[in-house]
Amino acid sequence: MSHAANVKEKVLGFLSGKSGENPFHLFAELRDLGSVVSIPNPMGDPNKNAWMITKMNTATKVLKDSKRFTVDPASIEKESGFRQEMVSDPDDSPDTFFTGKSMVFIDGIDHKRLRMLVSKAFTPKYMEGLRPRIQEIADGLLDQVESKGEMDLVKDYAYPLPIIVISEMLGVPKEDHENLQIWSSAIAKGLGWGKQDPSVQQHLKDFGDYTKRLVEKKRTHLEDDLISQLIQIEEEGERLSEEELISMITLLIFAGHETTSNLIATGSMMLFEHPEQLEKLKSNLELVPTAVEELLRFNGPSTSVGPRFAKEDLEIDGQEIKKGDMILVLVKSANRDEEVFTESEELDVSRSIHRHLAFGFGMHMCLGAPLARVEGDVAFTTLLKRLPNVELSIPPEKVKWQFTLSTQGLSSLPVSF
Ligand code: HEM
Repeated sequence: MSHAANVKEKVLGFLSGKSGENPFHLFAELRDLGSVVSIPNPMGDPNKNAWMITKMNTATKVLKDSKRFTVDPASIEKESGFRQEMVSDPDDSPDTFFTGKSMVFIDGIDHKRLRMLVSKAFTPKYMEGLRPRIQEIADGLLDQVESKGEMDLVKDYAYPLPIIVISEMLGVPKEDHENLQIWSSAIAKGLGWGKQDPSVQQHLKDFGDYTKRLVEKKRTHLEDDLISQLIQIEEEGERLSEEELISMITLLIFAGHETTSNLIATGSMMLFEHPEQLEKLKSNLELVPTAVEELLRFNGPSTSVGPRFAKEDLEIDGQEIKKGDMILVLVKSANRDEEVFTESEELDVSRSIHRHLAFGFGMHMCLGAPLARVEGDVAFTTLLKRLPNVELSIPPEKVKWQFTLSTQGLSSLPVSF
């Protein structure tokens, strides 16, 4: 096998969750092969080419070009619905963000309409208003473990914080948080290229059934929360269907915590692995917002953004792409692009970053980025202020990573302080 084929095969193994190896040297080798690299179609369709975008400038070009690329292959050719290939949706299931019509998988005016309905609740200004409550939640979680001198940073801190925040915004009762965690993490872990754990379908169904019941309950007793606001919009009749409502709620729950938990947990791990950067940050906590951007760039939660599909025959960086081809933008590779970042493979918490792609780019850029940024800021500042001696309590090589298609995380992170 040639070197190029070998690198591509390893990257695909990594993306399908089969390999747990550190991918960054593979991404560097991939960038050496070019900015647009052909790969065997990860969905197994031999009639459609697939490509990986490895570098920053090409990635931003593709992600902002909604005229020539779409997230919705069914808008090009009816039969090529890749989600249908990954999850066959039984007729009686309520729709979820994955099986139904959610903003992340559609383009054009429908995307704009759905995104507009919730965008006010995710502006940086609105998020600043939530900061005191996020602070209270972070403090409450540390109060529970402080006297013990140790905790699992994933289970006790990184995981519950974002789920409590998004659940309170939406109006999801506390007693249901655990189920949401179970469904969301099973779905995140169960989906990958060419991979679908048999349990995913059941978890999606349970998640959808639950959300439908919650909406029915809330209809009789609207409150001051985002789900109640969306129900009112749906009941007005024109702007949101019930299918879209359920898809939207499940999307906000799913997108709103798994990734942010990973930012907090992986970010902490990156700091433990770079003790001089951890010390730099501890001695100047005002650097935390800058450090959050660097942690997102250096090893953010998302490996790639959702695939794009070419709407026409076209050319990118001299490479011919055919209508219907799948394009996978590897944001983790673009974020280490040596043509854009000096010493791109180094972590520098004081680095000033003009742009990274951890939240994607263009019209599908992460809606929740302002929330994730405030949560990251509060989480790291509170952790380092209250537990300045926090350190890993197992050797770094024993820490268990979970590498999956869309996100990367840790199953646990034992620390002492
Ligand atoms: C560190 C945390 C987070 C990361 C790294 C992250 C990453 C991303 C990325 C890369 C995309 C773009 C997907 C694409 O273009 O295909 C995205 C979209 C999205 N994110 Fe996040 N996200 C985070 C937190 C959140 C939070 C807290 C929410 C809140 C609900 C959220 C809601 C969404 C939504 C609704 C979309 C779809 C936007 C659209 O299609 O227009 N995310 N996210």
